[in-house]
Amino acid sequence: MDLEIKNKVAIVFAASKGLGKAAALALAKEGCRVAICSRDAKKIERVAGEIEAISGSAVLGRAVDVGKKEDIDRFIKNVVDRWGTIDILVNNAGGPLVATFEQSQDDEWLKWYNLTFMSVVRAVKAALPFLKQNNWGRIINITSSSVKAPIESLVYSNSIRLAVVGLAKTLSRELGQYGITVHNVAPGYHLTDGLERIIDNRVEQGQKREDVLNEWSQNIPVGRIGEPEDLAALITFLASGKAGYMSGTTISVDGGLYAGTL
Ligand SMILES: NC(=O)c1ccc[n+]([C@@H]2O[C@H](COP(=O)([O-])OP(=O)(O)OC[C@H]3O[C@@H](n4cnc5c(N)ncnc54)[C@H](OP(=O)(O)O)[C@@H]3O)[C@@H](O)[C@H]2O)c1
Repeated sequence: MDLEIKNKVAIVFAASKGLGKAAALALAKEGCRVAICSRDAKKIERVAGEIEAISGSAVLGRAVDVGKKEDIDRFIKNVVDRWGTIDILVNNAGGPLVATFEQSQDDEWLKWYNLTFMSVVRAVKAALPFLKQNNWGRIINITSSSVKAPIESLVYSNSIRLAVVGLAKTLSRELGQYGITVHNVAPGYHLTDGLERIIDNRVEQGQKREDVLNEWSQNIPVGRIGEPEDLAALITFLASGKAGYMSGTTISVDGGLYAGTL
């Protein structure tokens, strides 16, 4: 199927590994020019080269802390200086700390609000003029299954990510007139370093790694933990020309884990 995104300019935030990297690679394989970032300059440049070599598409890698407005603004400018426009925005950031409500701290709430929510606000603000100019655009936020069903000991994620969902729905209603669609993708368990940190936390509490993975897998109807590519496939479709009549959704990629009907 031709996804109609060859040569589109896509930005994927927080993409030196895990879900962001898989999304960047999948978009590059569809022929998008892709800009990726993370905090480690050497690493992101290496990953940009890797994706470019695999896909044959142009890839730009820059050091950016998505918790900093000035970094986001500079990155968007770098992309526009290089390619003249922006078509697709995939918002992503490192996941909030593991904590129960009683463990949560005032300053940590603000830190994760800044990283998880304000990063999306700032990225959309900076990129929007270019999406509007094209009268075509895609905004896709990587959130979590926690937006549909809260996850134990992830109070920051369970709470703050819902602000991203509310923002995306609002944007979908405001920006549809410019040909811009907006979605959230809600990953369940996907094997990445980010997930490994949650597993390590359980191991510290006395569980065995394999028991944690088995416990999760048993509760997933398709019977396995996801790969980053499972999420990347949905992101690529939502970014495509074929998804032009969809907007404002929050879609799970969780092997059927979420038990609700809607
Ligand atoms: N994997 C899952 O099963 C799963 C499930 C639900 C939700 N999620 C959420 O999806 C997102 C991605 O998860 P993941 O598993 O792919 O994580 P990951 O494997 O830890 O990768 C995180 C990426 O984000 C970058 N990053 C972290 N903080 C950043 C910052 N302040 N500025 C710029 N880049 C930053 C990291 O690079 P540097 O450290 O070099 O900056 C890395 O490239 C997280 O929000 C996570 O909570 C993941």
